[in-house]
Amino acid sequence: MDHSRHAALDRAEVAAALGGLAAVFSVEILPECDSTNSRLLADPPPEGGRIAVLAADRQTAGRGRRGRAWQSWPGAGLTFSVLWQFAPGAPVPAGLSLVVGLAVARALEELGVDGVQLKWPNDVLVNGHKIAGILIELVSGRGRPLAAVIGVGINLRLPPDAEIESAFGVTDLARCLDAPPSASRLLGLVLAQLHHFVGICAAAGFDGLRGAWQQRNAFADLPVRILGEVEPLAGTCVGVDVDGALLLQTPDGLRRVLSGDVSLRAG
Ligand code: BTN
Repeated sequence: MDHSRHAALDRAEVAAALGGLAAVFSVEILPECDSTNSRLLADPPPEGGRIAVLAADRQTAGRGRRGRAWQSWPGAGLTFSVLWQFAPGAPVPAGLSLVVGLAVARALEELGVDGVQLKWPNDVLVNGHKIAGILIELVSGRGRPLAAVIGVGINLRLPPDAEIESAFGVTDLARCLDAPPSASRLLGLVLAQLHHFVGICAAAGFDGLRGAWQQRNAFADLPVRILGEVEPLAGTCVGVDVDGALLLQTPDGLRRVLSGDVSLRAG
């Protein structure tokens, strides 16, 4: 495939995929920007209560979790961020990062992708390989109400020679589907799922969505290690708690790991 020839994102196509939800979002598309997360963190929120979405055909300084870069090549991925504002005085809902992964998983399943799994806290895998990453950053202070910038990168058609650092290997939508959707349609479908799942989580908490997350848990009942700023921890992944914390059965008993700057690895 010639990666210099690809369809750019198109607002009308995103709106068509969103259907009745199109008016809920204010979608901006840029041919190129440094990072859609950085832009939404810096920009003032849109007027009129709509949910701001910024998508870029290409990011020049895309950011991943734990200080890593999120690389982009023309046509290789869908990269966008959503500014989610919470009700005045309401906290960031517990389990938010898991719920965003669930929304991306559901959109992929809706398209017919088999074997979609979730890796705590919020990577999306297909048959064990990473297809999407999520970076959530909070906006607070500077006179702005509490909000989360939810950044999502989904691999659409990676160049065959792409070198990507990932403990699990990577995959893309072109390898999962005979007829992958356009990036614009995928964006509309993911936004609709985000609206559904983040809406439930903000209104009623994570507990009701916990079963849906656990059904897709890539490491259910498997040995795992947790790496990061906390002391390394090893145990069997028994699921997630009502607030989205990872539950690990260790020789010292059941331990809860809070979603922070940590990584999960097969044990
Ligand atoms: C990860 O898996 O490490 C998270 C990757 C998140 C990448 C997305 S792409 C859109 C948004 N803008 C960024 O700079 N990062 C996120």
